[in-house]
Amino acid sequence: MIPQRMIDEVRQGTDIVDVVSDYVKLNPSGRHYKALSPFTQEKTPSFIVSPDKQIFKCFSSGKGGNVFSFVMEMEKVTFPEAVELLAKRAGIDVSKYRQEGARKDEQRQDSRFDTLRWAARFFHGNLESDAGKRAYAYLAGSRGLEAGTIRRFGLGFAPESWDHLLHASTRDNIPVEHLTELGLLTRHHQRNTLYDTLRNRVIFPIFTIGGQVAGFGGRTLSDDPETPKYINSPESATFEKSKLLYGMHAAKDEIRRQEAAILVEGYMDVIALHQAGITNAVASCGTALTRYQAKILKRYTSRVLFLYDGDNAGKKSMLAGIDILLSEGLTPWVLLLPGGEDPDSFIRNRGKEAFFKEMQDNRTPFLDFQLRCFRDAGMMDAPDQASKAVSAMTRSISLVPDPVQKELYLDELSRQLGISRKTLLKVMPSADSGRPSGPPPREEEKKAAAPAPPPNRPLSVSERTFLEALLESTFYGNEVLAFAASHEQMLSLSNHAAQAVLRHLVDRFRELDPKAGHGIDITAEITSISMPEARDLALDILFRLPVQEQAPLLPDQTMQHARRCLSHFLIAVKTLVLEPLQQEKQTVLAQLAGTTEKADEKKLFMRLHELNSKIRSMDQEVTGSINAILEREA
Ligand code: CTP
Ligand code: MN
Repeated sequence: MIPQRMIDEVRQGTDIVDVVSDYVKLNPSGRHYKALSPFTQEKTPSFIVSPDKQIFKCFSSGKGGNVFSFVMEMEKVTFPEAVELLAKRAGIDVSKYRQEGARKDEQRQDSRFDTLRWAARFFHGNLESDAGKRAYAYLAGSRGLEAGTIRRFGLGFAPESWDHLLHASTRDNIPVEHLTELGLLTRHHQRNTLYDTLRNRVIFPIFTIGGQVAGFGGRTLSDDPETPKYINSPESATFEKSKLLYGMHAAKDEIRRQEAAILVEGYMDVIALHQAGITNAVASCGTALTRYQAKILKRYTSRVLFLYDGDNAGKKSMLAGIDILLSEGLTPWVLLLPGGEDPDSFIRNRGKEAFFKEMQDNRTPFLDFQLRCFRDAGMMDAPDQASKAVSAMTRSISLVPDPVQKELYLDELSRQLGISRKTLLKVMPSADSGRPSGPPPREEEKKAAAPAPPPNRPLSVSERTFLEALLESTFYGNEVLAFAASHEQMLSLSNHAAQAVLRHLVDRFRELDPKAGHGIDITAEITSISMPEARDLALDILFRLPVQEQAPLLPDQTMQHARRCLSHFLIAVKTLVLEPLQQEKQTVLAQLAGTTEKADEKKLFMRLHELNSKIRSMDQEVTGSINAILEREA
């Protein structure tokens, strides 16, 4: 268990804007920052970060919370793991608490991420040991890697053995289920034994954007054509190749700095480029570029240079990738390396300088590349083929979401082909029919589109006002919470989510040590509310609240704000408490006006009398408490 004070320290040492910026491109918008949500496939930004309140909210998926919830979501980790990751960033060491927990708990509840980290260290250790001499020589010799590069990318080695990893895992008490789930151990079904999946392979750990190991790729050292060149970790909820870009953890800052990314095919291409000082390169890892990967790129930049193998397969992949990028609003460029080389082999064979020169001189806009592909295929010579090619190119342009860009591309195509814009427009598919057949929308998006289940009673205006004042008050101390706790009986909210927020805060207030003299951390509290509707409601309210001034307030200004907030709260309480009684009174009055029956009239008068005295006594009680508080404050 990480103690609360350490968690607080980590939160205080962390800026949510800074952390979120590692994953999305934030744009300032008033007091907030806005971005395209990393959780859904949206086109207009609905993901908002508040630097003042240190919270985020994604209005399209409904997800929201503080910096810990964000990291949990993005890195798919548990709360303690998120704390640990952020602690590392903030330069705070919380690792000893993790070990304590593991020792206390004999069953080792360590997460799969711990196992992945262990395995990465194990493979890397092998490479640097005697057993790894040959593999090291391969990487350093024929692949030209420097020691620093090997370390930076955490490269490793799995020796030619059926039980090397198996033995080490027993020795280090690593859960076998984790290793089988991660595909590092395979079960031999007939004999019911386990053996190492990766043998005689160089290991490439694959990192999440936050720099954790998520899986592995293993390249064989054998020349046997029967042996598959690469074996990758199997797909799982935490390792989906279609949603990863290899090298992103190392490239993201440079991509943002240069406002451009280089997209290559393989692990070795990324590593070779980084070693040459071109550190904005990432790889799609042999798969066709997915919309998901395009979206990841879009969070950092809008310009992407394709640098795939120059062979036919590579060209085809780039043509398909161009459409994916265009439809996500990115601008593709292409660099075709001569001689069918990939970036890794080009740099090794011809040197860095030649590579830089290629980058300078030969990168082309995507339209030129498309045209060149069609020309090379002989399609531009015969009118029937040319017509097909032109349709294909207008189709690509039709995918561009920005209308101005679309126009400009169309102009360019018209100029290059010598075909009028009017004619091009005739063959260009309309925007919607032209969408590439990407994967179906992700689960979150479907969920977000479905209406949320209706709350038990819609939130009333007075309930909302009450919660607003309650949440805002926590910026100024515990006074209001203390009042809410002592008047809990009276304060029952008919909206269940609202009631859950109140309950949670009151409970937390009661757990506080009054002598400690500190208030509750509202953003932390809100994100730990268990009912999702309640959490959303609280976050929503917190977002809409006016923020405290950014410049430090003068002491008496703070007092003024606190008092204004307190009186808002008290008025809200009064309204809230009296509201049901007042409503009933209105109903009774209406019935009275309509009745002619003497007996009914009498009953109604009695009820009215009851209500009036109840309202009076409630009013007195609440007003009394309110005055007591206000006097103390004055
Ligand atoms: N790849 C894969 N599985 C395969 C083949 C390829 O995952 N069976 C992925 C790897 O990420 C690989 C990339 O596709 O890095 C490109 O494949 P390829 O060009 O065949 O390999 P290179 O990266 O060029 O490997 P090397 O230079 O070591 O031959
Ligand atoms: Mn290669």
